[in-house]
Amino acid sequence: MQPKTPSESRTLMTDLVLPSETNPLNNLFGGELLARMDRAASIAARRHSRRVTVTASVNHVAFNQAVPVGSVVTVEAAVSRAFNTSMEIYIDVWMEDRFSGERSKVNEAIYTFVAVDESGKPIKVPELTPETPLEKERFEAALRRKQLSLVLAGKMKPKEATELRAIFMD
Ligand SMILES: CC(C)(COP(=O)(O)OP(=O)(O)OC[C@H]1O[C@@H](n2cnc3c(N)ncnc32)[C@H](O)[C@@H]1OP(=O)(O)O)[C@@H](O)C(=O)NCCC(=O)NCCS
Repeated sequence: MQPKTPSESRTLMTDLVLPSETNPLNNLFGGELLARMDRAASIAARRHSRRVTVTASVNHVAFNQAVPVGSVVTVEAAVSRAFNTSMEIYIDVWMEDRFSGERSKVNEAIYTFVAVDESGKPIKVPELTPETPLEKERFEAALRRKQLSLVLAGKMKPKEATELRAIFMD
């Protein structure tokens, strides 16, 4: 399988925040944003693997800034590292200023997707070759995040998470 770059999976989804998608403070409801991020991440995972993909875990979500009703929101998702059958998808969420059109980053999240065959069995995905400094930084840290996610899910013993443990030893 030919390695791919993050730009080959990069997915941009732009949409408005409608009144039915807000909380009582008239800001975007968290669950609505999670769903939008899941959809963008799913497309990015599919573009990288060209397989059916499923959400295995949501590793990190930061709702840094409220997004008011009427905002134009862009969810940007790309594969940040591919392992054997799983892929880490890094998601940046941008809001466009109503008057100036300037974009500011409001949220980010990290999801893990797994490519599966017709029976739902995990299947190998192509490797990822990061290109830009940011892509390389995210690629490097992804193994530690995978180990943390597996430890928290009870699927890896802490003592086996060597790269994760190393950052606490420095
Ligand atoms: C995701 C799923 C395919 C994993 O199946 P599994 O039997 O645990 O398979 P494995 O143990 O071989 O794991 C497959 C890969 O997922 C990774 N993985 C599993 N759980 C993970 C977690 N919590 N965090 C990070 N990675 C995880 C494994 O490390 C492995 O990665 P690798 O092959 O790249 O090393 C399976 O649990 C599943 O189908 N879950 C339901 C998915 C779904 O319906 N999602 C939508 C929810 S609404």
